[in-house]
Amino acid sequence: MAAKLGILGSGAGSNMAAIVDACQSGLLVAEPVLVLCDVENAGILELAKERQITGRFIPPGPFKSKLSDDMERRYIEALQEADVNWVLLAGFMRIIKSEFLRAFPERIVNIHPSLLPSFPGLNAPAQAISYGVQVTGTTVHMVDQGIDTGAIIAQEPVSITPEDTPESLHERIKTTEHRLYPQAISDLLTGKIKVCGRQVIRN
Ligand code: GRF
Repeated sequence: MAAKLGILGSGAGSNMAAIVDACQSGLLVAEPVLVLCDVENAGILELAKERQITGRFIPPGPFKSKLSDDMERRYIEALQEADVNWVLLAGFMRIIKSEFLRAFPERIVNIHPSLLPSFPGLNAPAQAISYGVQVTGTTVHMVDQGIDTGAIIAQEPVSITPEDTPESLHERIKTTEHRLYPQAISDLLTGKIKVCGRQVIRN
């Protein structure tokens, strides 16, 4: 039976759309069953609706960068009720706490717009430009207790040009992400890659 995916996002939703499109075209053998969002009226909910995937806004609670315990429970319950096997973060702007990690052990994945461990956290494309690196990129990684610290599943570089703004760079990174994220998830689901601690083993 195909793995059921739950996708969490807070913004435009282009990575969610790329994953759902890859499932619908057969490139990724999985069933996207639920999109959860902590921002009312975010673009991701509209894109989910266009693709006939159930999208739900669940309020995050009073904190800025994490879900409150109550609300985190509601996210977990929604995913469990939908029988989700894998949770994919796609621009979800809140840290995932231990109860969430325990509910989906080794089954939560994130994509981050830099070559980790460089430039974790917020505004990674802007961080790369201000540091002056000439190459940045994107990283698909497992989610653990830290911020963008989990085992690295896949990475791809993206060059920075002198004309780049944080916005133009981020758009170019996203083009790469839309290819890399579905491919990395497919490799995980088919067992082509296995995560052992921090290492990824390719079969
Ligand atoms: C992506 O660049 C992703 O790497 C980061 O947030 C952005 C989300 O963009 N975590 P979108 O909402 O998928 O368009």
